[in-house]
Amino acid sequence: MTAPILRRLADLRALTSDWQSTGQTIGVVPTMGALHQGHLSLVEAAKAGCDRVIVTIFVNPKQFNNPEDLAKYPRTENEDAQKLAPYGVDAIYVPEPEEIYPQGFATTVSVAGLTDVMEGEFRPGHFDGVATVVAKLFLQTQADRAYFGEKDYQQLMIVTRMARDLDIGTEVVGCPTVREPSGLAMSSRNLRLTPEGLEVAANKNRIMNDLASALQNGAEFGPLVKLAEADLLAAGFTQVEYIQLRSAETLEPLTHASRPARLFAAAWADGVRLIDNIPV
Ligand code: PAF
Repeated sequence: MTAPILRRLADLRALTSDWQSTGQTIGVVPTMGALHQGHLSLVEAAKAGCDRVIVTIFVNPKQFNNPEDLAKYPRTENEDAQKLAPYGVDAIYVPEPEEIYPQGFATTVSVAGLTDVMEGEFRPGHFDGVATVVAKLFLQTQADRAYFGEKDYQQLMIVTRMARDLDIGTEVVGCPTVREPSGLAMSSRNLRLTPEGLEVAANKNRIMNDLASALQNGAEFGPLVKLAEADLLAAGFTQVEYIQLRSAETLEPLTHASRPARLFAAAWADGVRLIDNIPV
């Protein structure tokens, strides 16, 4: 059975107040729709960890720095509701835009430092949009726990810090990236790749894994970056925006994998911007 789709905050509040009054815990999986197995793994984690589960679907205009990217973002609400049906979620919250950004909305949530690098550098304003909408979704859903994929590792760190800094009582839970058999990280953006683009994109995980192995063997990161960039371009990527090694805890840049680290990359294939990261 498909879960009820709620478009109004008042209807959502009626449900969550009822659940809270009987001591039930609430889990939320915030999404922008175009659901894939990665999202569904978050729903599974939420079902296992909470009494009630809400999936939110809202294509958040404030986190798109490129209007064309926003216009092209896939919108597949009916298919999404069908995909969620077997999981027994309790509600799908698809807020009307004015429920999130009412007339005169004037507040921005901005997490300093963590938002300036990588995605923040290449997509100015993106993380202010993410932090603002996620703060609203946490407060609107009254969730005890919120589930995010490690695929967007920088986002995971930022929303964790935001919830802590603002004393929002939602615990942020990170879940492993789900990959295609080719190694390609699942992403709603993959829907825009042609079959040839998908083949090109699949090389990224292999190239990142090779780089991670060299780092694990003690290699210095700097000299390897140019080689990895050349490998990506040779595999058919059209542009490499960044390849970076950073601390898994603080996101500080590292020269060696001397402590728990993550390797991050953003590159374009087939007109689609693809990001990924792996632990080192
Ligand atoms: O990861 C996403 O899909 C979005 O950034 C999120 C967390 C739903 C906020 O719009």
